[in-house]
Amino acid sequence: MSDLLSGKVAIITGGSQGMGAAQAQLFVDEGAHVVIADIADDLGQELAEKLGEAATYAHLDVSDADAWKTVITDTVTTHGRLDILVNNAGVYKRAMIEDTTLELLDFHYRINQLGVFLGMQAAFPAMRDSGGGSIINVSSISGLGALPGHAAYGTTKWAVRGMTKYAAREFGPHGVRVNSTHPGFIDTTMLLENSEELNSSIETVTPLGRRGSVVELAEVTAFLASDQSSYVNGAEMTIDGGASI
Ligand SMILES: NC(=O)c1ccc[n+]([C@@H]2O[C@H](COP(=O)([O-])OP(=O)(O)OC[C@H]3O[C@@H](n4cnc5c(N)ncnc54)[C@H](O)[C@@H]3O)[C@@H](O)[C@H]2O)c1
Repeated sequence: MSDLLSGKVAIITGGSQGMGAAQAQLFVDEGAHVVIADIADDLGQELAEKLGEAATYAHLDVSDADAWKTVITDTVTTHGRLDILVNNAGVYKRAMIEDTTLELLDFHYRINQLGVFLGMQAAFPAMRDSGGGSIINVSSISGLGALPGHAAYGTTKWAVRGMTKYAAREFGPHGVRVNSTHPGFIDTTMLLENSEELNSSIETVTPLGRRGSVVELAEVTAFLASDQSSYVNGAEMTIDGGASI
């Protein structure tokens, strides 16, 4: 523990499990207060209880604009400020383009793309009023290149990468930095449940020869959230053991 995020107030979407939960744990260890925002209520509440007074849980469907306003207002009312938003919530269902239904496209769009846009839009005024802040949008290596079966998912992650640049341009003059992270193959249920084909070849396609851990993702996210990255804005941070090269 180094108090990297001492006194900061953070919202982490999709924080009930996987990468978001590891970020919540590390952010609390580094001195932040964390609002875990998710639709997985039981898991999120359980995690918040485990993390103690420095964490709270809020139900948030990231595709619901009104729900975003409520979470931001409640956070600022309770904690007086908002410094960090990690737009981490995401879904992934593999399908080839010819098998991709409108429902599948819309499912990815609403959570992965619209959810990130609404989050940035809702959080920005609160961060500006707090004197600045850091937004981290979780994209993917699917937002840097193309993998078969990833079109519905990957195009939303390309959008996240693009929206990050637009927001970095607009919010930067107000002291709010916006960056994207591009995880490779990280050990979570999302990875395990969805890509049997990929799972067997991950070690081969990744130069470091292994999957990443949620803690390795959280470490980089904490750096982007902290003042140590104070001149990093509009950047893409690839965390993939070299898989995308
Ligand atoms: N695991 C990987 O290998 C990998 C690789 C690249 C990118 N990512 C991205 O990282 C992020 C986290 O992925 P993960 O592997 O931890 O997944 P995960 O499935 O373990 O966790 C995702 C979380 O998002 C929540 N969520 C889903 N829909 C939501 C909604 N509408 N509103 C709020 N929360 C919602 C889920 O309840 C869950 O807690 C995602 O954006 C994912 O696309 C993951």
